[in-house]
Amino acid sequence: MNTALISRRRFAQLLSVGTAAAVVRPVISFASSPFEAAASTVIRLSANENAYGPSPMALKAMTDDFNLACRYPDEQNDVLIEKLARINGVNRDQILLGDGSSEILKLCAETFTDKERGKLVAADPTFEAILNNASVNGVEVVRIPLTRTFVHDLPKMMAAASGGLIYVCNPNNPTASITPKTELREFIGKTPRETTILVDEAYYHYADSPDYESMIPLVKDHPNLIVSRTFSKIYGMAGLRCGYCVAQKDTIKRIRPHQMWDSVNIMALAAASASLNDPDQVPNGRRLNNEVKAFVTSELEKMGCQSIPSQANFFMFDCKRPVVPLIQALKGRNVYVGRLFPALPNYMRVTVGRKSEMETFLSAFRQSIA
Ligand SMILES: Cc1ncc(COP(=O)(O)O)c(C=O)c1O
Repeated sequence: MNTALISRRRFAQLLSVGTAAAVVRPVISFASSPFEAAASTVIRLSANENAYGPSPMALKAMTDDFNLACRYPDEQNDVLIEKLARINGVNRDQILLGDGSSEILKLCAETFTDKERGKLVAADPTFEAILNNASVNGVEVVRIPLTRTFVHDLPKMMAAASGGLIYVCNPNNPTASITPKTELREFIGKTPRETTILVDEAYYHYADSPDYESMIPLVKDHPNLIVSRTFSKIYGMAGLRCGYCVAQKDTIKRIRPHQMWDSVNIMALAAASASLNDPDQVPNGRRLNNEVKAFVTSELEKMGCQSIPSQANFFMFDCKRPVVPLIQALKGRNVYVGRLFPALPNYMRVTVGRKSEMETFLSAFRQSIA
């Protein structure tokens, strides 16, 4: 008996539940999964995931490629790189795929920072993964506070760097704020070539401010610029793990030897390629996110809690009291929100989930502050 076939059929049956109702973007329900059962009791607004799930086209691509799980992912790797190169207007040798963009961040820390030569300069607060990647290798990490409007303080960051790496997260996690395109362009133009700049655009697709722009077009003129992206956010593939970066060919060549071979799995590659063919995934994701974000932030405002203007699928608001007891109180009500960011001890980071999830969050929050 062909067990692979049976598994595949079972997988397809499970997926058809999601695909048939895909027009309304259902919660993908693998009812037989113990993980799903556990997850259904919790409102998870803690990791900036996409509550609407992957594209139906990504789900279909995975079922179609299920029997290829026995192969190394060479062709799928090439196909995705080809598509990403075309979409971003660069050559194939300017793209490096990663096991999530987390792998890209780690590779950049390993390639461009070093105990003797180069420290890591980053904002405070920002997404800490790369700070941990650098400091575990004994690299000095310099944190430069965001400005009062939650923008990267680029002049101070440049002044603090000498060689090494500057990490600019735009939109920034946890504040969901952006650093304006004109400031960022000028900064990239002025930074000496010995210092590498990594612009993390994990939340690129959610940003719609006229002051926001991707820095990918600047790569052609700047060998010291790397821009990272992910399939974990608007493409809803956080559990599959796929990200990438764009840089000049020689910069990619410097990074690649630090990477594990075949680090992106075949299902993630199939899903990522198919997602790029779905014309609805990005606009629908943006629209739903904006609608629900406007709802929840205005409800919080009615309670006197101001949010930092958000350009992402999460937001941060001022609780006007220490956030840690509130995080715990919400957890006790099965609502998980973002962790403490020590630079902003009175601010809570909340992922924008579905409207019903945000209603549950609001009700639990009201109870927690009562
Ligand atoms: C700013 C930022 N960069 C990178 C990542 C890592 O994402 P992934 O490894 O899933 O691509 C995250 C995850 O939340 C993030 O917030």
